[in-house]
Amino acid sequence: MAINLKGRSFLTLMDFSPLEIRYLLDLSHDLKSKCRAGINDKLLDGKEIVLLFEKTSTRTRCAFEVGAGQEGAHVTFLDSNSSQMGKKESLEDTAKVLGRYYDGIEYRGYEQSVVEKLAKYAGVPVWNGLTDVDHPTQILADLMTIEEHVHKPLNKVKIAFVGDTRNNMCYAWMYGAAKMGMHFVALGPEELYPDETILKEVNAVAKETGAQIELVSDEKVLNDVDVIYTDVWAGMGEEDKLRERVTLLKPYQVTQELVSNIGTEDCIFMHCLPAYHDFETTFAKKALDEQDIDCREVTDEVFRAKYSVVFDEAENRMHTIKSIMVATI
Ligand code: CP
Ligand code: NVA
Repeated sequence: MAINLKGRSFLTLMDFSPLEIRYLLDLSHDLKSKCRAGINDKLLDGKEIVLLFEKTSTRTRCAFEVGAGQEGAHVTFLDSNSSQMGKKESLEDTAKVLGRYYDGIEYRGYEQSVVEKLAKYAGVPVWNGLTDVDHPTQILADLMTIEEHVHKPLNKVKIAFVGDTRNNMCYAWMYGAAKMGMHFVALGPEELYPDETILKEVNAVAKETGAQIELVSDEKVLNDVDVIYTDVWAGMGEEDKLRERVTLLKPYQVTQELVSNIGTEDCIFMHCLPAYHDFETTFAKKALDEQDIDCREVTDEVFRAKYSVVFDEAENRMHTIKSIMVATI
């Protein structure tokens, strides 16, 4: 059956079938090849796109802007201080207004219910650019990157998400892995294990796709991992929890030793970025200098290793985001 995603919002991978995700991945690979070859079909010619960011961003914002620009669309960027949304105008009214001007709406912020509400009332596709509980555009880029670097089908890939297994990236990964029939292991402290309701939903999908979703807190039970993935220990809006997080997560820092212990010979390291791998950021330096906190979730050695594919992953944000816009508008 031909896949048609026109008019669909992209709020979570849980809304998409494995075949639909496959379609988006194939389109992403195709758009990347065309981009590299200098072929440009202007697939979004004349379209208008609005980007709503209540949290900061480098990759997601730039991927939308560059992807849209390359395909001939025009973009408006609004941060939380430059619109009436939610403060002087309800989400419902804002969505209805934006839907009259724009062909697609990207939203990054806090609660998933906001992006759901925008999608309910806008009448045009809404794309989730990260919430507190999901980051689906990132997973599409991650799946694409795995296909480029791990030479087996996704349903044969074993991935370990190491660290805060209750955060938006781990949840997004559980959704993606469950849908694509992957072997997903969350490695982190029991205190930060994923929410039971989410696990139930994910396991129901896994039952249908053959995926395996595991939670472990001891790296010794893990081996033959193809992809080692981590994320920051305190995400946007959680910075005040840094000390308690570091105390829990320090044993789960991704080091060369951990990689050697749990990874296959040709395993890869991935990270959604931005990452703390040294003290070249004001945040990491301040935490160290003023609070004696080392917040690095990955060592510089691993981050810069040959098997680290983090910048390919970052590039693929653009190709996959472009494919989401092209497929749904
Ligand atoms: N990975 C990611 O979403 O990066 P940004 O926060 O820079 O958009
Ligand atoms: N967990 C991180 C992901 C950033 C892309 C955050 O929410 O800040």
